[in-house]
Amino acid sequence: MPDIAVLNGRLMPLSKARVHVEDRGYTFGDGVYEVVRVYDGRPFMFLEHLRRFERSAEAIQLPLGSPVRWERLSRRAIEASRYSEAKLYLQLTRGVAPREHPFPAHVRPTMLMTVRQVTPVDEKLRRRGVRVVTMPDLRWGRCDIKSLNLLPNVLAKQSAKQRGAYEAILIRPGLGVTEGASSNLFVVTRQGAVITPPAGPAILSGITRDAVMIVAREEGLAVAEAAVSPEQLIDAAELFLSGTLTEVLPVTRCDDRIVGTGRPGPVTMQLAGALRRWIGRHVHPPGRDHQARVTTSVRAKRR
Ligand code: PDD
Repeated sequence: MPDIAVLNGRLMPLSKARVHVEDRGYTFGDGVYEVVRVYDGRPFMFLEHLRRFERSAEAIQLPLGSPVRWERLSRRAIEASRYSEAKLYLQLTRGVAPREHPFPAHVRPTMLMTVRQVTPVDEKLRRRGVRVVTMPDLRWGRCDIKSLNLLPNVLAKQSAKQRGAYEAILIRPGLGVTEGASSNLFVVTRQGAVITPPAGPAILSGITRDAVMIVAREEGLAVAEAAVSPEQLIDAAELFLSGTLTEVLPVTRCDDRIVGTGRPGPVTMQLAGALRRWIGRHVHPPGRDHQARVTTSVRAKRR
């Protein structure tokens, strides 16, 4: 079977999946989501994604149900797809109800999972680096919730694309640089420190961002979460993006300026390699079976 959907627990070809036009995900963007990378048939950092999914759902008072059920169905969908390199998408909306703003009294949330083959970022781009453009961050005050309301992100990404850039870097007055339209941003200073804007309501704190900070520390680099000013982008020795599909991606131009030497910098390349190795270790952990470990941890957390 190729692309797969699991809709309210039922597994089917993605092309057959249908939701009601009055689903609140469709009318209000009233829902939350996750994107998980599947490497070699195994979802990467699945427990961390499920935890963030749970936090997002809780933040909008949406009952996620059992994470173990999400996990089980996701694994069935991945298996059914037979894809080894895939993108697992999880989405929960408030459900189907006549269009009234307050939450409906009796409604069953709509639970969706899809599995699609992933198109990895072009290796040429990874070797050469990408261009980003800065623009105002027009999003709301709870960017830490991975909500379906992505219109400002979509508009920013489209504007970047129209300007020939790979990603939009968002800047919020008084706060500075927040993140990309669909990625987190890291700055490597001229002193060699690795900095990323702090977790909090202004950014979606990426699972990959956390992984990058862990591997950077393992590599003996100085890592800090700190505010990043637009001037620091200009002054940076290196810039890079992080994300589930992005992994670590060097940025070699920002607006019309060259970043550092104009080539992917040594720290970025070191971290890109370290993250790949870390992914390899996590996807194929030595010893205990990873699937059993995730299930046990999710269960333990629920107790
Ligand atoms: N987006 N910031 C934003 C605004 C994002 O949308 C994403 C990911 C990230 C990186 O988070 P993570 O490392 O957990 O993927 C940061 C996903 C991939 C998307 O919307 O398609």
